[in-house]
Amino acid sequence: MSTWANLGLQDSASPLMEQLIFFHDHALLILVMITVLVGYLMFMLFFNNYVNRFLLHGQLIEMIWTILPAIILLFIALPSLRLLYLLDEINEPSVTLKSIGHQWYWSYEYSDFNNIEFDSYMIPTNELSTDGFRLLDVDNRIVLPMNSQIRILVTAADVIHSWTIPALGVKVDGTPGRLNQTNFFINRPGLFYGQCSEICGANHSFMPIVIGSVPVNYFIKWISSNNS
Ligand code: CUA
Repeated sequence: MSTWANLGLQDSASPLMEQLIFFHDHALLILVMITVLVGYLMFMLFFNNYVNRFLLHGQLIEMIWTILPAIILLFIALPSLRLLYLLDEINEPSVTLKSIGHQWYWSYEYSDFNNIEFDSYMIPTNELSTDGFRLLDVDNRIVLPMNSQIRILVTAADVIHSWTIPALGVKVDGTPGRLNQTNFFINRPGLFYGQCSEICGANHSFMPIVIGSVPVNYFIKWISSNNS
């Protein structure tokens, strides 16, 4: 999760989020190089008093500064498309979780396992334990196995919500009357926090998502204890 003064991306917990961070850094590097170059040129131009009386056009330089940005854009567009199609790929999921957005809480269904279902509400600040995270913890957490492909089905019961977990690189809208699908692979154990990210009404800020990522045998234990 994000803690104090963390202005960048969170540490990734999935291979796809890792790739997204690499892409972000790649694009940012290009952006910084362009900004420095253009900044330098503008700065030097500002303090320049000379003009070239005979310079009215320059075919070569105009060719260069038209084609060069197009090539630079290709170096961003192609990796971006690669990531886009990688994110869309579904790789034989071993668990499917359905999450339904409500005003203002999430409910979850593990339809693979005798239809386990539960609601997940934020814990209000006055009921929070000392080790809890304010506005981020919920009463019933999602438990998912790590090192497994997981499919998420997202929908909503009233207005549009968005199921968003930054560390996993997942952001799917829950829309009434639609069923959206995505998948991810959690590569480490831990708690991963997320929040709704569609403006869904007065308590939009108060419907967080918590995933407990556990080893597969712990997940089976948890699922069997809920199956009675
Ligand atoms: Cu649900 Cu914002």
